[in-house]
Order: sequence, then C-alpha cells, then structure tokens
Amino acid sequence: MKVEPKIREFICTTAHPEGCREHVKRQIACVKREKIIHEGERVPKKVLVIGASTGYGLASRITAGFGCGAATLGIMFEKPSNGKRTATPGWYNTAAYEEEARKEGLYAKTINGDAFSREVKEKTIALIKEDWGKADMVIYSLAAPRRTDTEGNTWVSSLKTTGEPFTEKSLDLRNNTIAEKTVEPATAEELEGTKKVMGGEDWLDWIKALKEADALAEQALTVAYSYIGPKLTYPIYYDGTIGQAKRHLEHTAEVIAEEFPSVQARISVNKALVTQASAAIPIVPLYFAILYRVMKEQGNHEGCIEQMVRLFKEKLLKETPPVDEKGRIRMDDWELEEDIQNRVWEIWNQVTTENVEQISDIRGYWEDFYQMFGFGFENIDYEKDVEIQVSIPSIK
Ligand code: NAI
Repeated sequence: MKVEPKIREFICTTAHPEGCREHVKRQIACVKREKIIHEGERVPKKVLVIGASTGYGLASRITAGFGCGAATLGIMFEKPSNGKRTATPGWYNTAAYEEEARKEGLYAKTINGDAFSREVKEKTIALIKEDWGKADMVIYSLAAPRRTDTEGNTWVSSLKTTGEPFTEKSLDLRNNTIAEKTVEPATAEELEGTKKVMGGEDWLDWIKALKEADALAEQALTVAYSYIGPKLTYPIYYDGTIGQAKRHLEHTAEVIAEEFPSVQARISVNKALVTQASAAIPIVPLYFAILYRVMKEQGNHEGCIEQMVRLFKEKLLKETPPVDEKGRIRMDDWELEEDIQNRVWEIWNQVTTENVEQISDIRGYWEDFYQMFGFGFENIDYEKDVEIQVSIPSIK
C-alpha cells in the first residue's frame, strides 16, 4: 500500500517502512565513517539497550553495533502492522537494524514488551544467560508516558511545572504559528508519577535483576540519558516535573555505584533533539527550531547519531571520562555554549508567526520530525506501494 504521513500535532500515526530503513542505513553509514574505538580503551562487546528502537537508544545501538562490533540485545515497546495500519517507526527501524547487522555477522536480537515489567526483565536475563553469559554494557534510554511497577501500581508521567504556572511563546505545531502557551503546575501526585516513570527506579531494578542473576560482567558499564537545557526552559524542563525525574535518575547513578561497586554507572546529559518523546514537551519545540538554526550556522549541529558517536568516541569508553562537578558526562556542552545561548535568546525575543520561517530553522525541525517516521527522504519513492507487514528476524 502507499503510505503517507498522517500528522496530529506532535505525533505521526503512520510510518514508512522503506523510509525508516533509509534512516537506519544513514545512521549506520555515519558511524562507519568514524573510528569509535581506540587502543587501551574499553570495547563493549555484549550490549543491552533498553529503549533501543528510536531516538537516542537506536543511535546508541547503532554506535555499539557498527562502531564497536558489539552484539546487541534491544528492548522496545513497539507495534507491528496489522495489515491495515502501518507498524510504529521503531518496529521498522528495528527490522532494518537486525537485517543490516546480520549482513555483517553482528548478533542482534530484540525483545518487544514492557521494559518496566518483571516478565520482560526475566526474558531478557534468560536470553543473555543463554546467548552471552553476561552483558558488559547496559544503555538505559527509555522515554515512556506511563509505568506499571512490579507491585502493579500504574504511574503516569506529566510535563508540568512544579511551582507557578509558566507562560511563554510556543510553536503551534498544527499550523506553525507562534502563540503563548501556559503550562500549569503539577499536583503532588503528578510529580510523584513523573519521577516513578522517568526517574531512576526502574534503571536500578534492571541492574539489580541483572546482578542477582549473575548476568552482568565485572566492571560492566551502564549509562542513562539526562537533559538540563537552557534557563529559558527551566520552568518547564529542568525545574519542572521531568527535571525532578531526571534529578532522581542522576542520583540513581550514585545509588548503583554504592550498591554495586563493580558496576560503573554513568549519566550522559545529551543535547535537545527532536524525537517522539521530546516533541511532546510544550514550549520546547520552538527552542529546538531556534537552536537548530543557531547551531547549524555555527557548524556544530548534531543529530542523535552524531551525539552518540561523539559520546562513545570521546567520552564514554575512556577509563576516566571527562565529567562535570556532579560526575556527569556533558554532551550538551556545545548546546549550552554562551555564544549559542545568547544568539538563541536574541532570536527567541524576536520570533513571531510572521518571521518564524526566516529566523528559526522550523524547516529543520519538520525535516527531523518527518524523518523519524520514515518520510522526506529524497531517494525513497513515496508514490510506490510498499509492504507494511515487515517482520523482525529475531521476533517470531
Ligand atoms: P524516544 O521516544 O525516541 O525513545 C524511547 C524508547 O523507549 C523507544 O525505543 C521505545 O520503544 C522505548 N520504550 C518506551 N516505553 C517503553 C516500555 N514501556 N518498554 C520498553 N520500551 C519502551 O525518546 P528519546 O528522546 O530518544 O529519549 C531517550 C532518553 O533520552 C530519555 O531518557 C530522554 O529523556 C533522554 N534525552 C532525550 C533528549 C531529547 O531531546 N530527545 C535530550 C536528552 C536526554
């Protein structure tokens, strides 16, 4: 069938299988152009990626697989096609990843299910024990709207402030206009829910479960991804519900280090990028569009794959990676450079519906957005019928 984008505000309800494959292939090509591993550094060989199908997790999987030659086991929560609706992009990405990996003799298996559940943890551990013995790296890259914990309580994540209501300019994604948006403060329950979903509790559960089952190698490395961003978005991000959850996640790295001294737990604070998770945050998409413009002008704009390549190549695999005063790896270093932020702020103050196309990179925002769903690649013929039922080799 012919597949077209169907966009509803910050989500596209269709995905193009060939386009998603193209997206994955381009990321693989990007990794292959780089020399990721260097003599004397750790080389991950058996990598578990939790949240492996889109965004930063997919880029991490590609960098580990094609940059380090690692076997990868990916955990994701995606929907296959039912013959009428397309699959979710993460499904097609993963099918493409596994096929490309296999061509190069790289082990790649995937478990599709709820990473928060005990069942998926048990299934993962059983597979690790059977196929690898132990994993030597665990990448935690989940972004989820809700979590049912192992006791059966369901928690919902919110994107709200924690103090006063916050009103700022915002990009209305339905018609590319600029209007003010007010984000309301969260209730205590909403704040707690966000911490339960996006904080570090489940990361710790994974490490505990893997350790208890003796499925983690000595000196295994684990990394989770955080975000801080500029002062401009503090009320909605860093000081908002999600920021509180990220502080919990960051603190969990210390908890893991205390409880499991043989595990190296790291936080990488990544750059703001359009992904399915981040497009849903109010006010932030306008910041993306302006940031993209400024960083592209400066020549230091990166996408998920360039971020992950630089993370692995220059920081994560070093014996003592460069970290900030709180022990975090900073991949947002270029985003937060003073010159970049001053310019962003200047544009932010000027931006209106009339000039948003000229003074921000709204085109770049939408290009990334469409590409996440496999659309907008010039070498894909979108007029052609495509098979939407695509199988993932390791999922029977
Ligand atoms: P994303 O939406 O592209 O990826 C989320 C991944 O989690 C997907 O693979 C999805 O299948 C998986 N997932 C969601 N719920 C699941 C569940 N219940 N069970 C199993 N898998 C599940 O998100 P993105 O942006 O790549 O986020 C990954 C991490 O990076 C998050 O912690 C996010 O906060 C962080 N981050 C993102 C930034 C951004 O600007 N996009 C910036 C800095 C950090």
